[in-house]
Amino acid sequence: MLDLTPDRADLDPIEIAPREEIEALQLQRMHWTLNHAYRNVPHYRQAFDDLGIHPDDLRQLSDLRHFPFTVKNDLRDTYPFGMFAVPREQIRRLHGSSGTTGKPIVVGYTQNDLDMWADVVARSIRAAGGRPGMRVHNAYGYGLFTGGLGLHAGAERLGCTVIPMSAGQTERQVKLIVDFEPDIIVVTPSYMLSIVDEMERQGVDPRSTTLKVGIFGAEPWTQDMRREIEERLDMHAVDIYGLSEVIGPGVSNETVETKDGLHIWEDHFYPEVIDPVTGEVLPDGEKGELVFTSLTKEAFPVIRYRTRDLTRLLPGTARTMRRMEKITGRSDDMIILRGVNLFPSQIEEILLGYPGLSAHFQLVLTKDGRMDAMAVQVEARPDYAETGERATAAEQVRKRIKDVIGVTTTVQVLEPFAIERSLGKARRIIDQRHG
Ligand code: DLL
Repeated sequence: MLDLTPDRADLDPIEIAPREEIEALQLQRMHWTLNHAYRNVPHYRQAFDDLGIHPDDLRQLSDLRHFPFTVKNDLRDTYPFGMFAVPREQIRRLHGSSGTTGKPIVVGYTQNDLDMWADVVARSIRAAGGRPGMRVHNAYGYGLFTGGLGLHAGAERLGCTVIPMSAGQTERQVKLIVDFEPDIIVVTPSYMLSIVDEMERQGVDPRSTTLKVGIFGAEPWTQDMRREIEERLDMHAVDIYGLSEVIGPGVSNETVETKDGLHIWEDHFYPEVIDPVTGEVLPDGEKGELVFTSLTKEAFPVIRYRTRDLTRLLPGTARTMRRMEKITGRSDDMIILRGVNLFPSQIEEILLGYPGLSAHFQLVLTKDGRMDAMAVQVEARPDYAETGERATAAEQVRKRIKDVIGVTTTVQVLEPFAIERSLGKARRIIDQRHG
């Protein structure tokens, strides 16, 4: 794979500034944000007043721990525009997410917010190895989802040529990759695998394309998945993270030269990791729930927003900004099976250890009497047709899950393409326990 390490002279100076400089900027911006939210969003004023805390009580960054958390329900309760901090006519764009249950959430952006977002996504693409003049095939969904338009604006901001393909039409994805010769693909990792399957079906060697980098996010993916994608496509696979509430993609990104976790763009997003049960702030290095406070957002400031994503904070390496470890899962996706906690990513790691099995899998939860039961359904690779082989693989996986995670499951190795393909985020858990 090519060495795509960016020139230090091309980075934003703040990416490699001394920590004291970054922290001074954060403190100044955090003051502004707390005041802005307190003055302009009734929800924040009420929440601060309830705790008897005022924006002026923030003297150092760690004082943030005294301010109230914001959770998804706060956004639902104020749906649609109750959390906006600027007059409506200053909003240039809305995005939203449907959410798995209940009311959707909606977020808004001023022109300055859209500019900042394009800047952090441009920075992310550059960190991943992108350069002005490169061609970017964008297969994140366009629309209310922040993936498509977020990557689009960032790629243009960096000076790339965007191919706004969006998600879906998998045959055509392959044709455009062959015909337009992009350098970079941006897409969810699970949909990337569907595109690779389609290349193979069409007789296109995935290692022969012009792609040099894939920038994958919007859902968890493991180091084993990185190896699988890098091997099958002969390109770098780099992680991008973000969420609609905080801005969209571009909150943090891996650097292509280290691939050692995601550098958080700390000049705009202030991270904390908390104990999800007690709410205590944990020291860097300890694993817990990731919480973000925006530092420059105008339309939709967020104060201590609980992401539900589980990770830990690590010191900077390729940049002075801190890193977050690759996300292993969301607290909502944690399955508790007979007292054992497990995440879909642990199953993914195990499955990718078997060459005959694909990375397309689902976990089906059912009730077995009063006990919860889990079936792991995974597709065989097309060249792994023999039923005897599949049964042996199923038995090996079952044993391995029992040894490594400590739970008993059933494992079914299905025909290739038996599992429904998602165009965006893969649906890993099918919960049939209630009705
Ligand atoms: O998924 C934004 C995005 C688009 C990120 C494209 C990266 C690329 P939401 O739809 O609001 O926004 O979903 C946010 O997705 O809280 C995580 O649980 C999960 N997520 C996003 N990126 C990653 C990642 C977009 N790199 C939720 N690794 C977040 C693991 C991720 N999970």
